[in-house]
Amino acid sequence: MNENPDENEKVDFKKHWNAAYQKSPVTNLGWYEENPTPSVELIESCNLPKEALIFNAGAGATTLISELLVKGYGNIVVNDISSVALSELKSQLPAPMNATVQFVVDDLTNPSELLKIKNVDLWHDRAVLHFFTEEKQQKAYFDLLKGALKPKGFVILAEFNLEGAKKCSGLDVFNYNEEMLQKRLGTDFVLLKSFNYTYTQPSGNIREYVYTLFQKKL
Ligand SMILES: C[S@@+](CC[C@H](N)C(=O)[O-])C[C@H]1O[C@@H](n2cnc3c(N)ncnc32)[C@H](O)[C@@H]1O
Repeated sequence: MNENPDENEKVDFKKHWNAAYQKSPVTNLGWYEENPTPSVELIESCNLPKEALIFNAGAGATTLISELLVKGYGNIVVNDISSVALSELKSQLPAPMNATVQFVVDDLTNPSELLKIKNVDLWHDRAVLHFFTEEKQQKAYFDLLKGALKPKGFVILAEFNLEGAKKCSGLDVFNYNEEMLQKRLGTDFVLLKSFNYTYTQPSGNIREYVYTLFQKKL
C-alpha cells in the first residue's frame, strides 16, 4: 500500500499519460505486451458471441484490440484518458475491421462521455484500476462499471497484486488481490477465475499481477 495515498493528487493525469506515450515508442513502455495472452484466454473462456460489446478501460495502445479484431470480435469500445495513446492504438489496428472500433477519450474516475456506454457484455481492464489510489476515484470507477455492465456480463480486472510493484510510470499504485476486487464489486458478482501472473517488461524487469474474471448475476 502507499505510504502517502494522497501523493497522486497533485498530478494532472491527462498530461502525465499523454507525455508517457509521447516520450517513448509503445514497444518500450513498461506495460507493453507483444502477446496479451492471459487477457485473450480469459476473454475467449467467456464464449461470447462475436457481436458482444467489449469495453476496454484505459486501453492505451494495447495489442489486445488487434488480436480481438483478428479473432472476429466486431463491437469494441476503447477508452483512455490520453488522446495520444488512442491515436497510437488507432494507427495499429488492422483494416477493414478497425472501422468497427469506437474510441472514447474520457476519465474513468470523472466520466462524462463514458456515462453513455451501456449494455456492456465484457469489461476489460489491465493495469488501469491500480492507479486509482483514492477512495473517491475507486468509487467512481466501480459505479461506472456497474452502471455499464449487462446482467450476466463479465469483468476482467488485471492489476498489480499485493506482492507487486508499488509504483508504475512514476505514479503510486493501489495493490489488489481477488478478495479486494470481489469486495469492491459486491455480492452481485461471482468470481469465476483468478490467478497470479508474472509479466516481463521490455526492460527485462518483472511485474506481478493478479488476473480475475467475474460475472454479474442476473
Ligand atoms: C499502464 S497503462 C496500461 C494500458 C493498457 N491497459 C495495457 O494493458 O497496455 C495505464 C493506462 O491507463 C490510462 N489511464 C490512466 N488513468 C486513466 C483514467 N483516469 N481514465 C482513463 N484511462 C486512464 C493511461 O493513459 C494508460 O493508457
